[in-house]
Amino acid sequence: MEKLVIEGGRRLEGAIRVSGSKNAALPILFATILCAGETTLGNVPALRDISTTLRLLGTLGCESVKDGDRVRVRPGRLAPEAPYELVRTMRASALCLGPLLARIGRARVALPGGCAIGARPVDQHLKALAGMGASFELDAGYINASCDCLRGARIAFDMPTVGGTENLLMAASLAKGETVLENAAREPEVVDLANFLVSCGARIEGQGESVIHIQGVDELHGANYEVMPDRIEAGTFLVAAAITQGDLEIENCPYAELEAVCVKLREMGMEISPLADGRVRARCQSRLECVDVKTQPFPGFPTDMQAQIMALFTLSEGSAVIEESIFENRFMHVQELARMGADIRVSGRTAIVKGREGLTGAPVMASDLRASASLVLAGMAASGVTEVLRIYHLDRGYESIERKLNAVGANIRRAPE
Ligand code: UD1
Repeated sequence: MEKLVIEGGRRLEGAIRVSGSKNAALPILFATILCAGETTLGNVPALRDISTTLRLLGTLGCESVKDGDRVRVRPGRLAPEAPYELVRTMRASALCLGPLLARIGRARVALPGGCAIGARPVDQHLKALAGMGASFELDAGYINASCDCLRGARIAFDMPTVGGTENLLMAASLAKGETVLENAAREPEVVDLANFLVSCGARIEGQGESVIHIQGVDELHGANYEVMPDRIEAGTFLVAAAITQGDLEIENCPYAELEAVCVKLREMGMEISPLADGRVRARCQSRLECVDVKTQPFPGFPTDMQAQIMALFTLSEGSAVIEESIFENRFMHVQELARMGADIRVSGRTAIVKGREGLTGAPVMASDLRASASLVLAGMAASGVTEVLRIYHLDRGYESIERKLNAVGANIRRAPE
């Protein structure tokens, strides 16, 4: 295992580039199962979750070739089984259910199981696919799914689930007749998947809204498609500029998709200005003020930015109330930030952060992807050396994080644990 060793107290300055979105690339890769022909994707990030997905696609019968940020996928003879060794490392594997049912009428997918940030069930995915004619049984930790043919249906999700909406978008694209998804997730990554499917010949309307209409078609062809930039990576860089009182020019930045984050950072006193060609300048000249934050489905403040903004609050003026309304157990970073001197109290889904003048470097443990990012941010602002252990979480979601941050002034090195 590896760790990151961070010398804190350096101001970040310069240009930093955002990679393609992990959470958009994953469902789009699974959607290639639906296509009769070859697909070429651009702006695919080099991440462990992406290589796991390519391995899983290979097991399911889709050959792929990766060349830099481009990935070519050619579906062959499809096989229905997503094995536990791959699924257990990546919950998004459940996204192969919809496409496999649509293409071959069966799927055998290991149950994703628990995860550090809460129970994260897939009941909504299953209920909705059952509404389209699929049946399921549980067998030795696997979901066995089958259907004669998927039929369009009216589906109302109990909550706007990102993965559930994506699974259904894929299934419904090749179903017979019309599917209407109500209370659908509106996240930009859902929109990116829908746009990819449309470029393959799917008939989808309403993506980005709560009600999506899909008319099933007989076949989808492959396409050339550029994955959207990663809004969470971009948001993490905004906080990196804030927490080091730095000045960053963020390239390939999905500014419109980051509005809720920019609103909060500006309220805190940060300067954020969109420039030409997808660049955004983020500058912080003095200590920021704490504000309150509640995580919500898009367009609200993203749960995937909660840990990072918490790190910023620990060093800001005043106090902040953070309410986590999406996941029930997403404060694992609190204990670790406390080891660095942060003053945070948690009660249920609420955390109260009292800003401090400084944090001190310490060895800390990463518990999940975004928690790891918050520890790296805190480490860059703390005095002394911070060691972030178990960074395999970070490598699942941030491409070359230390190389990118070091190029704008950070001092981070990777070392064996
Ligand atoms: C996706 C993102 C993740 C992000 C999350 C919320 C990917 C690969 N991951 O995760 O980074 O934090 O959206 O923006 O895109 N739920 C159920 N039953 C279900 C499905 C979901 O109860 O069948 C609940 C979950 O436990 C959670 C809420 O719904 O409380 C939202 O989850 P969901 O939007 O499905 O998250 P993911 O798609 O897993």
